[in-house]
Amino acid sequence: MTRGVKKWTYQDRIIAPSLLAADFGRVGAETSRAINAGADWMHLDVMDGHFVDNISFGPAMIQAVHETNDIFLDVHLMITRPDHYLPRFIAAGADLITVHVEPEADHDVASTLKAIREANCLAGLALNPATPFETVVPFLAEIDLLLVMTVVPGFGGQSFMEEVMSKVEAGAKYRAENKLDYHLEVDGGIGPETAAIAGAAGANVFVAGSSTFGAPDMAIAIQGIREA
Ligand code: DX5
Ligand code: ZN
Repeated sequence: MTRGVKKWTYQDRIIAPSLLAADFGRVGAETSRAINAGADWMHLDVMDGHFVDNISFGPAMIQAVHETNDIFLDVHLMITRPDHYLPRFIAAGADLITVHVEPEADHDVASTLKAIREANCLAGLALNPATPFETVVPFLAEIDLLLVMTVVPGFGGQSFMEEVMSKVEAGAKYRAENKLDYHLEVDGGIGPETAAIAGAAGANVFVAGSSTFGAPDMAIAIQGIREA
């Protein structure tokens, strides 16, 4: 859809349900359900069984979502060699692609971010709970989104780690001091209570899997995060 168009700013509160918690037998219908419930973006968790200890889905799944629905696709690559696979995710319809900064991802971070932007996608950079904020600083002028993981990535349904909020605060402070404009996204264990904590620290993009797709009423769940 709006690939490469900066429709949202970091002053917008953006709710991104994670497809990982949806029924994989009906991804088109599940995405439509999220859109009808008020989702702003869809978050797509790609896991390769190497960078994280789980295997989820790849470009074909993203293409299926892209072809059946019109929503901004926020693709989170938890894979090694994201640079190698990048063209396939771009072709599948990604609007924003987030790669990890950790050395285990085995890529040249600056080159990968540049390749994402040259393809007219937005570029995100993620850091795990154990990774210090300083690790992402050299790249902050080159990104559209900083993803502060609030769980150790790999699985949905884990508990929010409040101790990483200092990195969200550091990201917001650095952005203001350097007149940058990246979004601050949190991912893992997000529901109304934890979204309030993360929002107070400076986050504006809230990824939520189990608390949205698993809720009795998804619209109420999304509204709860929006108003947190
Ligand atoms: C975790 C993934 C998350 C996951 C969040 O590795 O990156 O996006 O889907 O799931 P919940 O919201 O259930 O913690
Ligand atoms: Zn994710």
